[in-house]
Amino acid sequence: MNQIKESKVIGVATPRIDGPLKVSGSAMYASDHHFKDMVYAWPVCATIASGTLTGLDTAAAKKMPGVIAVYHRENIGKLYRTPPAAGFTMIIDERRPPLEDDTIRYHGQYVAVVVAQTMEQARAAAESVKATYSKQAHNTSGKLLASELSTPKPDEKSKRGDTASALKDAKIKVDQVYTMPVETHNPIELHASVAVYDGDKFTLYETSQAVVNHRDVMAAMLGVPPEKVQVITRFLGSGFGGKLWPWPHGLLAAACARNLKRPVKLVVSRQMMFHSVGHRPAIDQRIQLAASADGKLTAVQQDYVNHTSILDDYDEGCGEITPFLYSTPNLLVTGGLARRNIGNPTAMRGPGAVPGLYALESAMDELAIALKMDPVELRLKNEPAIDESLGIPFSSRHLKECLTVGAEKFGWSRRTPEVGSMKRDGLTLGWGVAACSWLAARSEAEASVELRQDGTARIACGTQDIGGGTYTVMAQVVSHETGIPLNKIDVVLGDSSLPPGPISGGSWVTASMTPAVLEAAQKASASLLKVASSTDGSPFKGKKQDELELANGMVCVKGQAQGAVPISEILRSAKINAVSGTGKSTGTFGEAKPKFSFHSYGAQFAEVTWQPEIARLRVSRVVTVIDAGRMLNPPTARNQIEGAVVMGVGMALFEETMYDPRTGAPINNNLADYVVAVNADTPQLDVTFLDYPDYELNALGARGVGEIGLAGVAAAITGAVHHATGVRVRDLPIRIEDLLAPSGKNMHVA
Ligand code: MOS
Repeated sequence: MNQIKESKVIGVATPRIDGPLKVSGSAMYASDHHFKDMVYAWPVCATIASGTLTGLDTAAAKKMPGVIAVYHRENIGKLYRTPPAAGFTMIIDERRPPLEDDTIRYHGQYVAVVVAQTMEQARAAAESVKATYSKQAHNTSGKLLASELSTPKPDEKSKRGDTASALKDAKIKVDQVYTMPVETHNPIELHASVAVYDGDKFTLYETSQAVVNHRDVMAAMLGVPPEKVQVITRFLGSGFGGKLWPWPHGLLAAACARNLKRPVKLVVSRQMMFHSVGHRPAIDQRIQLAASADGKLTAVQQDYVNHTSILDDYDEGCGEITPFLYSTPNLLVTGGLARRNIGNPTAMRGPGAVPGLYALESAMDELAIALKMDPVELRLKNEPAIDESLGIPFSSRHLKECLTVGAEKFGWSRRTPEVGSMKRDGLTLGWGVAACSWLAARSEAEASVELRQDGTARIACGTQDIGGGTYTVMAQVVSHETGIPLNKIDVVLGDSSLPPGPISGGSWVTASMTPAVLEAAQKASASLLKVASSTDGSPFKGKKQDELELANGMVCVKGQAQGAVPISEILRSAKINAVSGTGKSTGTFGEAKPKFSFHSYGAQFAEVTWQPEIARLRVSRVVTVIDAGRMLNPPTARNQIEGAVVMGVGMALFEETMYDPRTGAPINNNLADYVVAVNADTPQLDVTFLDYPDYELNALGARGVGEIGLAGVAAAITGAVHHATGVRVRDLPIRIEDLLAPSGKNMHVA
C-alpha cells in the first residue's frame, strides 16, 4: 500500500464536527423525527416464555380513547423471511417475522401491536389487550451444560497438534470453567422506528448501526424491491452491537404504516429492550492450559457453550483470539450452543473476543500462580513469531510493548505477589493484568467526494456515525487529501441511498472507509485538475494534468505555491457547480489466501481496593495500552477506550440479566435493577496508544478502536481481586458475598 506519513490533520486532535449539533440538541436521532398525521404504536408482549397463543381479546382495547387499530397475526398483512445472508447483507438475528405464528418461544415476544393517536393511548390500550395462552415448560436457566449441546458434538473451531496428549503429559496444568451471565445492551438511546409509507415507498428512520443491510432486510421482509425502502440513521445514541441488525419492532412499525398510510412511531421501552433486541448470551467456557516448568505453553484447549434462542443459531465465537494470541504447538477450540426460551442473542461489544479473553486471560493468571511466575513475564514468554493458526505473519503486532509499557506506567515492578500483601491507606490492594486483542479488518465500502464551486467539499457514504466520531474522521481524510479546511467539509452519512458504506460494527469503519474516501477525493481532485487545464481563461490552460496539483484547497503548478488558484475560482470560471469522484475499498473478509493476520493488541492493568471490614470492593485504577495502528483522531479514540474500560467494570462487577424461573421474564429489566457502571464506579483511567501505523491495512495505517478496550478488563479485575482477597471468582459478576463467604463451586481459596 502507499503509505501516507505526513499530515496536518491526520493524527491531530480534532473536535467532533458534529459536536455543536449534539450539544445544542439539534442532532436528529430516529425517534426525534416527527411528521404530520403521525400516530404511535405500542407492542403487546407475551407473558409466557413457551407455549401457544390461544386467544386475543382486543374488544376493550379497540374502544379506548385514541385507538386507531390493533394488529395481530390475522390482520397485520404479509411479512416474509429473509433469504440467506451473503457478505454483509440480509443479516438479521431473529429470522422469524413478528406475528408469523401463534407459537411463543420467549417472554416478551410480540403477539400484537396497538396504534393510537398518542403513545400513552397506545400503551394503555396494549395493556388492555387480553391474551390467553396454553403454557409449556420453559428453560431460561443461565446454567449451560455441555451435555445439552444442540449440535451432536461441539464444532471444532480451530485445531493444531495433539492437544489431548499434551494435556495428559503436562507437568503444570490449569483446568477451570469460567462463566458469564446474560448481559443486556443498555445504550442511552432506546431502539426506535419511525416508518413513513407514501403508498409506494417506505422511508424508515431507524436506530441502525448498518443502514444498507437494514434496507435490504426490511425490503425482503416487506416484500418490496430495495429501491422502495430508504433507511435513515443520522445519529445514533450508541448501540454496542444491539443495533447492528434489524429487530421485529421495525417490521411492526413499517407494517402499521403500510396498513394505515400514516407515519407510525414505535419506541421500544427499556423493559422491552431486555427481551426483544438481543443481548450477550450466557456463556460457559472450560479452559485447559498446559505448560512446561519454565512457563512455555505446551497446550491450550478452550471449550465454550453459549445459549441461543429456540429458532435461531447465534454463535458467540469465543475462540476468535485464542488460536493466535500465544505460541503453543497444541491447540483446540470447540464451541456449541444450548437452546433457551429467550430472544436471540446478538453481538455485544467485542463479541467472542471479550468473553473469550475473560476466560483465557483468567486461566493465564492462574497458570502464572501455578508456575510461581509473574503474569506479565508469562505472557512475554509465550509471544509467537507468526500467527500459528494461519501460518502467516502479523501485519503489525506489538503486544510485548503493550505489556512492558503498561507495566511501567502502572508501576507493576512494585507488586508483591502474595495474596493480601499490598496495602495503602488502610486498604488492601490487588493488582491484576490481562492481554487483549481484537480483529482488524476492512469491509467493502464505497464513498463519493464532491468539490464544489462555493469552496466546500461534500463526502457521502452509506455508513453511520454511532457516536465514535466517523463524521469527523471522514472530514479529516478529505481535508488531508485536498487541503480544504474541516469547517468547509460536509459529511453526509446514515442514509441507505448513499454509496454503500461499512456496517458500524467490529470497530472497522475507519479502516474500511479510509481507502474509499481517499480514492474518491483523489478522483475528484483529478477531475478538478482536468477542468483547470482545459478551461478557457484558466491560468493553467494547456498544462498537462500531471504538472498540476491540488494543495491547501488551491490548484497550482506542482511545487509552486505562487500563482495558486482556489478551487472555487477554477469551477466558477468553468461554470461548473461541482466535480466529483467515487472510491471503493476492497474487503479483507473471505480472502482465500490472506497474506497477513490483521489484529490489534493491548494490555490492561487493574488495581482494586478491598476493605473486608465493610465488604467494599472498588476498582481504583486501570492502565490500558493499545496497539491499534495509527490514531487518526486521538481524543475520540481515547474516548472509545475509556468508555470500554468503564463497561468492563460493569462486566466484572455488576452486569447480569436475571430471569424469573416461574415466568421466564427478565426481572431486572430496568436501569434501577440492571446495574451498569456509572461515574461513581469509574476508576482512574490511563490510556496510551502505541501508534504504530498498519500500512498493510490502508494507506493511513489506521486499524480502528472501540471493542478492544473492553477485552482485558474483567480478567484483569478478577486477577486483582484474587491478589487482594485470595478468592478466585470464575463466575461473573463478582459478588461481595463471593468475597465474604468464599465457598461456592466456582471459587477457590488460595
Ligand atoms: Mo459491535 S458489537 O461490532 O457493534
